[in-house]
Amino acid sequence: MYKIAVIPGDGIGKEVMEATFHVLEAIDVEFDYTFADAGDEYLEKTGVALPQETIDIVKASQACLFGAAGESAADVIVKMRQELDLYANLRPVKSYPGTKSLFGNLDFVIVRENTEGLYIGMEEETEEGATALRVITRKASEKICKYAFEYAKTTGRKKVTAVHKANVLKKTDGLFKETFYKVAEDYPDMELDDLYVDATAMFFITKPEMFDVIVTTNLFGDILSDEGAGLVGGLGLIPSANIGDKQGLFEPVHGSAPGIAGKGIANPSAMILSAVLMLDYLEENEAARKIENALVDVLAEGKVVTPDMGGNASTMEMAAEIRSKLENN
Ligand code: NAI
Ligand code: MG
Repeated sequence: MYKIAVIPGDGIGKEVMEATFHVLEAIDVEFDYTFADAGDEYLEKTGVALPQETIDIVKASQACLFGAAGESAADVIVKMRQELDLYANLRPVKSYPGTKSLFGNLDFVIVRENTEGLYIGMEEETEEGATALRVITRKASEKICKYAFEYAKTTGRKKVTAVHKANVLKKTDGLFKETFYKVAEDYPDMELDDLYVDATAMFFITKPEMFDVIVTTNLFGDILSDEGAGLVGGLGLIPSANIGDKQGLFEPVHGSAPGIAGKGIANPSAMILSAVLMLDYLEENEAARKIENALVDVLAEGKVVTPDMGGNASTMEMAAEIRSKLENN
């Protein structure tokens, strides 16, 4: 029995969470769920976006499923990553059959540093305009690079690429790059590469098959993972894992999507695949593959899929189809 915190949040976060539960109910793994509040709606009711109680619930759990927050995302998810020291943000970029993926055979992973960089929120108004502080520490860089290499090693991947802008950001990204190569000494069998972030953005489009595991700082990882989502068919499909030493938080890369919220047409795949990442994290790999395979079947058939995938199914209809494949496989 796993202790899981559940934060549906705002907008389509709630809808894709309900769909995910429908699928999780069909596997042979037992969960003890504790629901917790956070996001715009809760902020409107109470004046706080992320109550301490929610942080405590997540801290007391092995893992957390998070839907999406709206405008308060910075105060909710960014804060939670920092509070819980969820230092590694894992974002797989994988092309599935039946999707609008621009390439047929993509399978790489972005490992984004999740606690510092430009996202520490140290902004200041000045006479001329405003400034933002970008913090890169040796400790966090070492931790994220080590995580990327360990991840590559344990999942049988062959190459780790550091992405930075050390030619311009000489001190901060200079440190990141230097740390990457120092950590790499412990992984002599791993192929290594480092690239500037602007060139990386281009190679995503021209030669994405060159990537296996990418390790990068917070902002670059954020931008590149949305570009990665675009490569493989859109935000409705991309899950993520936020990993710390004590627990993991699993969430779709997308937000609350106010334009489609309440219509019941959000693609549940990104949230369901986030639950798959959670199952892998809990070492329930068999259950993870079962759900992933059922989802792949539904995408490949392309019959019962949501409008963003060119279909006309609702969120729950697509979830029910995935569940029925799962139960009949
Ligand atoms: P978004 O990810 O919510 O939506 C971007 C576009 O993708 C929209 O056209 C939306 O309809 C579409 N989309 C997203 N998820 C989809 C799904 N599952 N199925 C079908 N279509 C989907 O990002 P946006 O519009 O930049 O932000 C909306 C709100 O979400 C903002 O308030 C933002 O602060 C918040 N946000 C929260 C995040 C989080 O909680 N982790 C992450 C990103 C944004
Ligand atoms: Mg983002």
